[in-house]
Amino acid sequence: MSNIVVFGSQWGDEGKGKIVDMLAQQSAAIVRFQGGNNAGHTLVVGGEKCVLHLIPSGILHPGKICLIGNGVVLDPAVFLSEIETLAKKGVDVSPKRLMISKKTHVIMPYHCALDVARESSRSGGTKIGTTGRGIGPCYEDKVHRCGIRAADLADPELLRKKIVHALEEKNVLFKALYGAEPLDPEKIFQDMLPLAERIKPYLGDVSSAIQEVVAGGGSLLFEGAQGTHLDVDHGTYPFVTSSTTVSGNAASGSGCSPRLLDRIIAIVKAYTTRVGGGPFPTELFDATGDYLQNHGGEFGATTGRKRRCGWLDTVVLRESARLNGPTELAVTKLDVLSGLPEIKLCAAYDYKGARVLYPPQEENAMAHVTPVYETMPGWNEDLCGVTSWGDLPANARKYLERMEELSGVKVGLVSVGPDRTQTFPRG
Ligand code: GDP
Ligand code: IMO
Ligand code: MG
Repeated sequence: MSNIVVFGSQWGDEGKGKIVDMLAQQSAAIVRFQGGNNAGHTLVVGGEKCVLHLIPSGILHPGKICLIGNGVVLDPAVFLSEIETLAKKGVDVSPKRLMISKKTHVIMPYHCALDVARESSRSGGTKIGTTGRGIGPCYEDKVHRCGIRAADLADPELLRKKIVHALEEKNVLFKALYGAEPLDPEKIFQDMLPLAERIKPYLGDVSSAIQEVVAGGGSLLFEGAQGTHLDVDHGTYPFVTSSTTVSGNAASGSGCSPRLLDRIIAIVKAYTTRVGGGPFPTELFDATGDYLQNHGGEFGATTGRKRRCGWLDTVVLRESARLNGPTELAVTKLDVLSGLPEIKLCAAYDYKGARVLYPPQEENAMAHVTPVYETMPGWNEDLCGVTSWGDLPANARKYLERMEELSGVKVGLVSVGPDRTQTFPRG
């Protein structure tokens, strides 16, 4: 059995949750390795929808182990409310099958407050449009070496000391820069204690849990969040998230060797969407953009914001291929394109008088490229009930084949609806 990494190849919301839920069937353990509850992964099983922000998308499969790795940032209140919701649906969320790494960093209320204060102080085109979940400030504290790790929740005296220390600096910012009330460290500590008590049973050594799965002959499924072009190094900086979203981080963010990563699946939406600020070369501001938004139900699974929509960008895809080394593409939402007379894909950019095949790397350069499009004929057939490659309309197959040629990666899976069952192999 091979271990699989699933990652987003665009700007997030490619349908990672759906594919992870489907692949979880054949895996022993599902591991989140980066990001936090900025993620919103939607699973649809038998018509019932479930959105997960923190808990790995394998949780609906009884008996599968779900691990939250060290590379994740975890908001205790969100984790607890997510397990409560799942428990009400009859899902087993006991510590027997759900573990948080002791090394995972904890999102504190002051991280969320700082995230929101910073965003509101930015104006116009400089707004990142963060999810306001405290993701950036929590990763900052990790790198600044004053973060609170999940294991600290089991050590009240250390927790109190760290909260006091963190607020010494942050309260200066709140007061002097953002004109906000300073936060009371003792209140934050007291509020955190009951949450910490409930989190304690879930704390564990995720590296050991992974080794045990491997030793027992089981396979691992690493679930990426966000997308390659939101990666803090490789994305459209500064309009990015604060974690490393590329496939290589599956090892470091969960505490195992990169030699365990066998199959790497790039999730690609058949067109492009983006939530929040930042450049988006193939964005559509016309009726076709509205068609994709409406037909695709493109609203953020975390913040409910309308997603910006545009044509597929194979420059973005090619960059994802060279950064992540995918063994295959899983193309989602192909059904959404039905009914369009013609479909465009961006094959290259014109930038500063030259034709380029990869994104230029200077800050905000992506805002100044001109997409070079190819136009292909569309199809009218409803794809929701298609169950095999051979049953796809010829034009849909041609579109996928062109995607393979332009990205240099073969399609492995095709998804034609939100349900777990609406997926089939390339054939
Ligand atoms: P993620 O963040 O990558 O897991 O993606 P989201 O869950 O945020 O957004 C993807 C949306 O598309 C969800 O509403 C899914 O239920 C839905 N979805 C996934 N695959 C398909 C598909 O093939 N067709 C359609 N119509 N919807 C899909
Ligand atoms: P999933 O896993 C789409 C975007 C935000 C914002 C930027 C920074 O569901 O694909 P942050 O709160 O992370 O500091 O915000 O990143 N963003 C996402 N966009 N899908 C996501 O996750 C996202 N997570 C963050 O909209 O532009
Ligand atoms: Mg999402």
